[in-house]
Amino acid sequence: RFSVARQRYNDPNAEKEEAWEEHQIRKATLKFGSKDKRQVCDDYQFVFEDQIDLIKASVMDGVKFDYEKEVALEKSRAKRSALDAIREERKKLPVYAVRDKFLQAVHDHQVLVIVGETGSGKTTQIPQYLHEAGYTKHGKMIACTQPRRVAAMSVAARVSQEMGVKLGHEVGYSIRFEDCTSKKTIVKYMTDGMLLREFLAQPELDSYSVVMVDEAHERTLSTDILFGLLKDVARARPDLKLLISSATLDAEKFINFFDHAQKFEIPGRPYPVEIHFTEKAEANYFDAAIVTTLQIHTTQPPGDILLFLTGQEEIETAEEHLKLRVGALGTKIAELIICPIYANLPTEIQAKIFEPTPKGARKVVLATNIAETSLTIDGIKYVIDPGFCKMKSYNPRTGMESLLVTPISKASAMQRAGRSGRTGPGKCFRLYTSYSFQNDMEDNTTPEIQRTNLANVVLTLISLGIEIEKLFQFEFMDPPPLDALKNAVELLCNLGALNGHVKLTKVGRRMAEFPLDPMLSKMIIASEKYKCSDEIISIAAMLSVGGSIFYSPKNKKVHADNARMNFHTGNVGDHIAHLNVYNSWKESNYSRQWCYENYIQVRSMKRAKDIRDQLVGLLERIEIELTSNSNDLDAIKKSITSGFFPNTAKLQKYGTYQMVKRLQTGHIHPSSGLAEVFPRLVLYHELVLTTKEYLRQVTEIKPEWLLEIAPNFYNPKDVEDLSSKKMPRGSGLAGKSAGAGTS
Ligand code: CDP
Ligand code: MG
Repeated sequence: RFSVARQRYNDPNAEKEEAWEEHQIRKATLKFGSKDKRQVCDDYQFVFEDQIDLIKASVMDGVKFDYEKEVALEKSRAKRSALDAIREERKKLPVYAVRDKFLQAVHDHQVLVIVGETGSGKTTQIPQYLHEAGYTKHGKMIACTQPRRVAAMSVAARVSQEMGVKLGHEVGYSIRFEDCTSKKTIVKYMTDGMLLREFLAQPELDSYSVVMVDEAHERTLSTDILFGLLKDVARARPDLKLLISSATLDAEKFINFFDHAQKFEIPGRPYPVEIHFTEKAEANYFDAAIVTTLQIHTTQPPGDILLFLTGQEEIETAEEHLKLRVGALGTKIAELIICPIYANLPTEIQAKIFEPTPKGARKVVLATNIAETSLTIDGIKYVIDPGFCKMKSYNPRTGMESLLVTPISKASAMQRAGRSGRTGPGKCFRLYTSYSFQNDMEDNTTPEIQRTNLANVVLTLISLGIEIEKLFQFEFMDPPPLDALKNAVELLCNLGALNGHVKLTKVGRRMAEFPLDPMLSKMIIASEKYKCSDEIISIAAMLSVGGSIFYSPKNKKVHADNARMNFHTGNVGDHIAHLNVYNSWKESNYSRQWCYENYIQVRSMKRAKDIRDQLVGLLERIEIELTSNSNDLDAIKKSITSGFFPNTAKLQKYGTYQMVKRLQTGHIHPSSGLAEVFPRLVLYHELVLTTKEYLRQVTEIKPEWLLEIAPNFYNPKDVEDLSSKKMPRGSGLAGKSAGAGTS
């Protein structure tokens, strides 16, 4: 930086100085990549501080440097000292104190139920201890299941760092549609659903020496099914070690379920947590949460904040509100770093929550339930608990899923509070009254198996060779409602996955290859017949993305809506619109810019492409050719109908829809391209109760298709009132009033 000035004054050293600067930049660029040059120099100076004079002198004397070698040396030095630091940190975790006792217990018992506070090191340390103790010899792996994808990914990343290996090599993860493992992998973090699927390929889990079912207290559907299957495998394979780990203290249920299970406790040392209730019930927990966050930030001593919210949308709104309100407070108050965390958050941003908070600033983590036990975030001193979460439940009678904001259980509330006392005394602000805690909250959350659609799990179990009679006697820790089981079996029969004797058919076996809901798998299999597998897997991928495809910023809503409606030209319905989005994006050569211009979420599209690539592979496996039939929209729609024919609804008065085969009504979701079109007969992807009963992802179909595709499910009477004679309306472009006129 001095060189220009020096040259101007004809400094005899200018050339050397320039060589020196050039040297710094080159060497530092190697180290830091192509950052801003000035920044690179500063970083460089900092890193090489102790040797700077030496290097400078040599360069000034014209000595040539082997840059690559120097940088490699420096990198390995840095890595070694980071590893040293990590090793020290690992020793501080509560589980380290009982490492030997733990390994002895694993040696002595086949099944261990491990109980320890969140943050004691269960998830990150135990698989490493087992590896160090030789459980990965002879090429066997250690599996550790997580209920959530985010947790599996972030923990695997952390552990690979601790072991000083590349993620995906010795330590990897496997989640639906994403396999980050290799032949080298010995410690594998995975979602519980993925381990369930591995049973299909290896019923005795031969490639594993240890299976650890982590976060068992969460009692997800897959975890519960795993319990039943693992209990069996443990009997058949005495050499397999089974670890069930849980953050809650009532381990008795797990111990009683497994034969000869032994409890192993990790002594915790949580700090005291001061709990504050509100005096009166809050009218709006969201506003109260924002106000409380700001109050803590402006009045309380240093320490990070963890605020529990119910979902992505709420978290994004909170982020906006907080930014605005902190901005309005001016520069006198400390910086507030806002870190959102929810299931669909991209990995790069997830990492941000684990970064230490800079001095003088405060971090507020806006999290869903995921931070209750699945992820441990250090440095949290204040927890704000509004007392709600978003809970999925399924009504087997109406076939409706609801996704409602529901009060949490007492057990959840305790877990949330505990997050503040990990590294020092903490405070928990509950935005509800003490009366409400005592009287309105359930003790425990109902296990998912008792509130979900079981079709997928039943298909998996039957593919595993579990006969139907056995299915009804399957060893569940808490059995699902009989109705839900029966419904699942019935649906699978209707879809042709099971025959009249409730045995798996060829269609069923092919369906089980797909890690998708049975209706989606059936839709894909049917695409063979309609010669449109190419289009159908794009649709299936788009429907499986799990986040929204379109986005609509508040200040550009009109533009965004227009852009969205472009894909709906001709009222093709939401399924085909999704296909149009995918194809146009593909035509743009998967361009980011194209997404911005069309108000499409880049992230969702990338995920759709990944999923689609996987589906292509699976098609190959079941020997369905990839064929395109893009001009025949009816063929595509018929293919969709083959999977989703049970989900149909007829237009009633006032734009309401009546399910054809169920006593249930609903409305087309306002985000649908058909929301104001009111077709007479529609097929929907899902029926969800949020603020209302909504049909989501809707396509118009013809009544005669139902009789053609599902003659055993529909009879002519079901659709006879839909014959065109009785319905005088035109081809579906009528407005609301016309919809109201039909009956
Ligand atoms: O499973 P458990 O709750 O018992 O603890 P853990 O997840 O193994 O966490 C042990 C330590 O690792 C905690 O101090 C975490 O903050 C740290 N950790 C981390 O820094 N980054 C992660 N992605 C996961 C854990
Ligand atoms: Mg854990």
